[in-house]
Amino acid sequence: MNILMIGDIFGESGRAALAKLLPRLKDEHHVDFTVVNIENAASGFGVTPQIAKATLDLGVDVLTSGNHIWDRKEIVEYIGRENLLLRPANYPSGTPGVGAITVKAGPHRVAVLNLMGRVFMSPIDCPFHKADEVVPELRRETPIILVDMHAEATSESVAMGWYLDGRVSAVVGTHRHVQTADERILPGGTAYITDMGMTGPVDGVIGVDRDLILQRFLTHMPIRFEPAKGPAALCGVVITVDPETGRSTDIRRLRVPA
Ligand SMILES: [Fe+2]
Repeated sequence: MNILMIGDIFGESGRAALAKLLPRLKDEHHVDFTVVNIENAASGFGVTPQIAKATLDLGVDVLTSGNHIWDRKEIVEYIGRENLLLRPANYPSGTPGVGAITVKAGPHRVAVLNLMGRVFMSPIDCPFHKADEVVPELRRETPIILVDMHAEATSESVAMGWYLDGRVSAVVGTHRHVQTADERILPGGTAYITDMGMTGPVDGVIGVDRDLILQRFLTHMPIRFEPAKGPAALCGVVITVDPETGRSTDIRRLRVPA
């Protein structure tokens, strides 16, 4: 079974890159299941119900997110009724939405779990203990479990990869918007990459107009961020999983110009 996971869609150019490239990538890599992180899809900050729905309509199976999920207040009502858009599972209890879901994919079922790191981020519940709680529940439904670990510190992602090795099919990173070159299959059969990278403009600073970011670094004055213009690329991974055991056998990194 081939699984396509795509890193943070950033703004309009990220959405356009996804719409343009997804059919070709699905065909080329014989993709059975697609997961996309969408937390920056609305002008770089959050996601609207319209964008979430349009992305699912492209043929994406599950949407993941992270710290920007609440940037658009209209998403709160939507996430309460659309469980295919996940928010990190380790937000405190009482937070709207769900952090994991299991969905049908042909003859199989695939589970997706969204976690968020705490190092250099909000001090939410522990992602490691939350994984201990949720992964056994998901394993009762399917051995195919995909984890989006949305984190700032590379060390926290690497640690999560080792922590979940042999218990899930994949631990892939999002949030940093810079693709790392450390994809591998861990000894227990878990596909791992610290960060898949982002899908959006390549000539900015992690998606944002570079002149605005430079002004911010040079002056420390508050500046309204705008998405960068110019060419875009799609970043992600294709993972091959044995659907009977849930063990991954291959992970290939993608960085495709739009
Ligand atoms: Fe993020």
